[in-house]
Amino acid sequence: MRKGDGEVQKIEVGLQQAYRMLNPGFVVLLSSAHDGRQNVMTLAWHMPVSFKPPLVAISVAPTRFTAGLIQASGSFVLNVPGCNLLPAVQYCGTVSGRDGDKFSGAGLTPVPAKKVEAPLVAECLGHLECRVAATHEAGDHLIFVGEVVAASAVERLFDGMWRLGDLEGTLPVAHLGGTHYLLPGKRVHVTSYKDPAGETRFRCLAD
Ligand SMILES: Cc1cc2nc3c(=O)[nH]c(=O)nc-3n(C[C@H](O)[C@H](O)[C@H](O)COP(=O)(O)O)c2cc1C
Repeated sequence: MRKGDGEVQKIEVGLQQAYRMLNPGFVVLLSSAHDGRQNVMTLAWHMPVSFKPPLVAISVAPTRFTAGLIQASGSFVLNVPGCNLLPAVQYCGTVSGRDGDKFSGAGLTPVPAKKVEAPLVAECLGHLECRVAATHEAGDHLIFVGEVVAASAVERLFDGMWRLGDLEGTLPVAHLGGTHYLLPGKRVHVTSYKDPAGETRFRCLAD
């Protein structure tokens, strides 16, 4: 903090690390399959992009074994792991499916999805089954836009949103960068009230 002016000192952030300020969304295990070959890789770069139809975008380097399976099958599944699966998350993010079966290597169980060729990862907390609606080149990655055609989650952990208070030991995990991860704290909500001047204000309350 600078003296007197109340300003916070900011540092320059290297361009190769700038994305890490946006990174901490939940890390997912991206499963894919084609022609009897299935695979699972760790993915931090994803986002919802449309309500209707429900679309999500993922960014996958074309060098990943996964990229070819998605292109060939036209589908993928985003599986949300809990923190108990962090060793599997790190494994699936550092080993390639070209070199062997990552499901057995990571101790994960593939189970059939409802609507797509790619399997679900049984141990995960939630699953979004997606069909590829569009593919875009973006620098050294490919952006796959997927339409969510089926979704499921552990009943006691999801009530239209994650029930973090109930997730003891199985919290979804955000990726900070490298081998660093972040566990969410608690669920809160924002409520409005009128201040003495009649202005609408907001405050944060624990759920
Ligand atoms: C935490 C974490 C997040 C990752 N996020 C992405 C990502 O968003 N996009 C990507 O292309 N690779 C990402 N990777 C790297 C791939 O998971 C990694 O290259 C993996 O070995 C590819 O597997 P595959 O060759 O079996 O497809 C990430 C790795 C880790 C550890």
